[in-house]
Amino acid sequence: MSVTEKKYDTRAVMEMDAAYMMHFVNRLPVVFVRGKGMQLWDADGKEYLDFLAGIGVMGLGHSHLDLVAAISAQAAELMHVSNLFYMPQQAMLGKRLVELSGMGKAFFCNSGAEANEAAIKLARKWSKDKYGPHKHEIITFYGSFHGRTMATVTATAQPKYHEGFHPMLPGFKYVSFNDLAAIEAAVTDDTCAIMFEPVQGESGVHLATQEFMSGVRKLCNDRGILLILDEVQCGLGRTGKWFGYEHYGVKPDIMTLAKTLGGGFPIGACLATDDVGGAFVPGNHSSTFGGNALGCAAALATLDIMERESLIRNSAETGAYLKERLLELQSSRSDICEVRGVGLMCALEFTTEIAADLGAECLRRGLVVNPIGKNILRMLPPLICSREDVDIAVGIIAESIQGIS
Ligand SMILES: Cc1ncc(COP(=O)(O)O)c(C=O)c1O
Repeated sequence: MSVTEKKYDTRAVMEMDAAYMMHFVNRLPVVFVRGKGMQLWDADGKEYLDFLAGIGVMGLGHSHLDLVAAISAQAAELMHVSNLFYMPQQAMLGKRLVELSGMGKAFFCNSGAEANEAAIKLARKWSKDKYGPHKHEIITFYGSFHGRTMATVTATAQPKYHEGFHPMLPGFKYVSFNDLAAIEAAVTDDTCAIMFEPVQGESGVHLATQEFMSGVRKLCNDRGILLILDEVQCGLGRTGKWFGYEHYGVKPDIMTLAKTLGGGFPIGACLATDDVGGAFVPGNHSSTFGGNALGCAAALATLDIMERESLIRNSAETGAYLKERLLELQSSRSDICEVRGVGLMCALEFTTEIAADLGAECLRRGLVVNPIGKNILRMLPPLICSREDVDIAVGIIAESIQGIS
């Protein structure tokens, strides 16, 4: 399939963007105008294979017909009223996610940052109600990413995201990821929560170890501390299970979701155990758009499609194949020092500062991947990705490395 009619002019879009948009990101020089399944097309009709999925959002691939139909039908019926009233889609999505996760209660919002903001507020509220006003401190980890609001950027222990925004919020402490001894040293009677991603995404796909997961859970149980797992990127099938924590046999007290949840429609969720979720009472927290009928209908349809098309199993199986192919590539090159990943969440780490050039070369050859920092290439393809897609992508990556070396 190709775009024959030229609806947008690449240069005109770039110039308009430069004139009217805040310069909050260094964009790559492509104007995407259409997507279908694993494919994207730019304004000039060039086709790309998408191994980024809108940074882990487009789990169903682009423009899945059943999702388009569900969103269109809901939009025609009712988009939004207000959280002052009941909405069937919101209650149904709450039930669905609670049943899927074994958590107790849900709160809906519009993004990953908002889901984490809700999780932080909920943890503080529950801890203060239960133990008193001193219990407020939250421990997070170097290499984490939790969002860009003031609380979530404070929780994000990467100094580059803090620059220009000090002072950060009080009450956060940072320690090294996968370092149990460092957490034990950091915990005090004021600690209310320990928060992390089971698989750190934005810093380049770093997996929590089993020892760390089990150790943190035990420490939380022993010291009356809440475990918040940020599953915004690694949740909902990305790692080959519904939730990242299922790989470890450990359950959180609070969990956050977004990205894949709406299949491309913006929606986030904060889930908690019955006990912890009960800490929010009317007036504590809300969101005008959060849990609107349209977003919830999109999420319900997304979950249905994921189940019907066995996308969790596909993520596990195709993800294992992707890792196998990347390990094969590593064995043929001395400049790839590590292959990391689980399910369809993978990264290559290089010994040289090749990431930006490699990402650009892949894009030139029609593959969308994500350079991270100076030497990491991340892949988060849609969960519909096939072995054939993997073969094409790994082929383009190999040729691109060759092309720029
Ligand atoms: C693990 C994690 N948490 C939170 C966020 C923030 O989500 P959003 O950009 O939807 O606010 C992200 C975004 O990349 C993420 O990867």
